[in-house]
Amino acid sequence: MKRPEPVDDAIVLDPKRYLVSETDAEGVITYANSYFKDISGYSDEELLGQPHNIIRHPDMPKLVFKLLWDTIQNGNNINAVVKNLAKDGRYYWVFTEFHIKKDADSGDIIGYMASRKAVSKHIIAVMATLYREIAAVEQREGLEAAQHYLDAYLQKRGEQITFANIMENIHKFY
Ligand SMILES: Cc1cc2nc3c(=O)[nH]c(=O)nc-3n(C[C@H](O)[C@H](O)[C@H](O)COP(=O)(O)O)c2cc1C
Repeated sequence: MKRPEPVDDAIVLDPKRYLVSETDAEGVITYANSYFKDISGYSDEELLGQPHNIIRHPDMPKLVFKLLWDTIQNGNNINAVVKNLAKDGRYYWVFTEFHIKKDADSGDIIGYMASRKAVSKHIIAVMATLYREIAAVEQREGLEAAQHYLDAYLQKRGEQITFANIMENIHKFY
């Protein structure tokens, strides 16, 4: 599918509603709730069977998704603030909680679930700046340099602080 051309126009989210999707273990979409479809602008026919990067916004650093996948593939839940791209090119920022779906008997990961909600303007401003900086380093010097940049940023916030810690207690940090 052709990628939408991003436009600098935000979609305003209803703070009471959640955008939910589920994937298989490879990140291929298996379910999207109606609010996810309303906001992204895609139908079930367009979403189901597609990789979840269908709504990836080019402003998002690759590093964030690498951290995401490293975490969930190890069976750990994580939260992340994400800027997504709708079918019409507009964007929407969400606070996303990722959950692991495991087989009850074997304990194997069978898929993932993501539940997203609106995020405050203040958090968006902070994260947009951080992501812009990480993405710039990534483009200039690559993923490893971006990781070092983030590590230095986290170090300044305190010893042993991880990206996941910040995302888990975002209102405490910002
Ligand atoms: C359950 C689940 C939900 C996801 N939701 C999003 C999302 O809302 N936006 C997004 O850009 N990537 C999302 N991803 C991550 C994508 O799989 C992908 O890693 C990301 O879009 C970056 O694309 P790339 O890996 O092709 O670079 C999700 C992954 C999973 C497992």
